[in-house]
Amino acid sequence: MEICVVGAGYVGLVTAVCVSDFGHNVRCLDIDEERIEALLRGEVPFYEPGLAELMSKNIDKGRFLFTTDIDFALKGAEIVFIGVGTPMNPEDGSVNIDFVVQAAKDIAPHLSPESIVVDKSTVPVGTARMVKKILLENGAPESVEVVSNPEFLREGSAVGDFLNPDRVVIGSDTAKAAETLKMVYHPLVDEGHDFLITSPEAAELIKYASNAFLAVKLTFINEIALLADKIGIDALEVAKGIGLDKRIGKKYLRPGPGFGGSCLPKDTHGLLHIAKSFDTNVELVEKAIEVNDNIPSTLVNKLSDAMSGLEGKKIGLLGLAFKGNTDDVRYSPAISIAEELVKRGAKVKAFDPEATKLAERILADTIEYAESAKQAILGADAAVIATEWVEFGEISISEFREWLSGDILADFRNIIDPKAVTKAGLRFIGMGRQG
Ligand code: UDX
Repeated sequence: MEICVVGAGYVGLVTAVCVSDFGHNVRCLDIDEERIEALLRGEVPFYEPGLAELMSKNIDKGRFLFTTDIDFALKGAEIVFIGVGTPMNPEDGSVNIDFVVQAAKDIAPHLSPESIVVDKSTVPVGTARMVKKILLENGAPESVEVVSNPEFLREGSAVGDFLNPDRVVIGSDTAKAAETLKMVYHPLVDEGHDFLITSPEAAELIKYASNAFLAVKLTFINEIALLADKIGIDALEVAKGIGLDKRIGKKYLRPGPGFGGSCLPKDTHGLLHIAKSFDTNVELVEKAIEVNDNIPSTLVNKLSDAMSGLEGKKIGLLGLAFKGNTDDVRYSPAISIAEELVKRGAKVKAFDPEATKLAERILADTIEYAESAKQAILGADAAVIATEWVEFGEISISEFREWLSGDILADFRNIIDPKAVTKAGLRFIGMGRQG
């Protein structure tokens, strides 16, 4: 099939590369010439394992290319994915769909009567119908169809998630458009993956409800972890005991410093706004956001209590990304921890294997940046693990003891054995685990 993907950002690029790997001819369009030039040199503008390799494989096969030329990008395209960004409006947490609107206006005159436009971006309920209206107002043929096909990609494993999804949701008004879209995903149909055909509005809500559910589930286990700390028991045992109930499930029950990243914070706020626009509210999600926002300072309180205050204390901070395997620092709880430490007078030296450059844009010179985990911790009064990079879990307890000048190891990601920490003569501070 001939496919055009509008947007070479995270969602657009992953979609374009993976769909081309299904055997289709894909043209990936972006108006940002610098970005396209970098991509043409094989440079992926964000850290996503496996994406660059899959991109060059499909370029070499001659079925994937980048362009800034809209005429060329859309010529003969049967399917047009809109995969542009939908950031959160910082003033009120609502969803900014300006890029989607602009994309719809731009592509409208180039569409053919058989074209199907697919919303891949995460957009509020009603957007597919609104996009259709914009297309028609801007010269698209009457018969053009608009389908909602949300993505459920996790950063750091987006390629795997795309090629091996739990489900593919297609929100379409007509069976014909839904069937055509299934042809785009034909290898996944053959492999027996679940396809769910719904109304466009239901597909749009499924995306927000999924992320909000994950946010609530995680916030629940985080509250249980904080309770476990008060009781003095191991929250991982509790999480295991809960998760073995198949109705609850084992996944997404790792206590930590809270949810961050580009999606969960944005989509939980987005859901509140969607509810508001329908004259109702989702109080559970509202509360989860509030609880989540407070977790970094609660964890820093624990550290402060153990160190009799943080003024002038040297803290080696391991991790700045919002989770392991990504360079993304948006709404990162590790950044919130750094800010909270600085606010209380601590001297922070941080290391992250991938995220330092992006973190510097937020934290500037309020903290120091180290070149390695050892450099961050060396001579510090306490080491704090804020992101679960595998390499942090590979530092031995004796190395921590040797490098630290103080005696505190705080692991807010549960990647270190707390008993081994106390056995080695260090004091352990955790998130639901006891030394
Ligand atoms: C999420 C959804 O998982 C994905 O389906 C959607 O398309 C985009 O949003 P992502 O933002 O990449 O993906 O992150 P995810 O791996 O879900 O983690 C979100 C946050 O929760 C991170 O801060 C992570 O560290 C935290 N988390 C997740 C935990 O602390 N414990 C867990 O058990 C799971």
